[in-house]
Amino acid sequence: MTTTVTEPRSQSPYEMAGGAAGVGGFVNRFYDLMESDPHYGALRALHAPDLAPMRASLASFLCGWLGGPRDWFEQRPGVCVMSAHAKVPVDPETARQWTEAMARALADSRIDPELAARINDAFARMAQGMAAR
Ligand code: HEM
Repeated sequence: MTTTVTEPRSQSPYEMAGGAAGVGGFVNRFYDLMESDPHYGALRALHAPDLAPMRASLASFLCGWLGGPRDWFEQRPGVCVMSAHAKVPVDPETARQWTEAMARALADSRIDPELAARINDAFARMAQGMAAR
């Protein structure tokens, strides 16, 4: 008789975040906060009037970045998230607004707080890098 052993498989952050639905949920919350809270006015002003394309693009980017489908990267060969901001005048205040709104969106989601803390750390580093250029 043959016994099959199923190896425990570790989940990717994408799976832990609830897949495309989970990522789309906190991304939409992030842009809802950006649109509704005047505290993020400077950040909102940097974006185009219609945030729908950004909701789709950031969600797609984060799916790949968290270890899920890589459509965003495949559709933009040679583009990274830093080069995508080359023409965006990010300063320390708008970088702070971005990371704060995203931290709130993650806190409002059902994502495990430890994973959310790791994601927030990485976003803070990226945002500081964008503001420093
Ligand atoms: C540091 C503060 C940041 C500011 C002020 C900022 C601002 C912007 C703006 C103004 C755009 C163009 C949107 C438009 O055309 O309406 C953009 C695009 C984008 N941002 Fe940010 N961003 C920041 C940080 C980040 C971070 C940390 C990430 C990733 C975790 C990110 C991911 C993206 C993506 C994926 C796009 C779309 C690029 C494309 O599809 O061409 N941004 N951002």
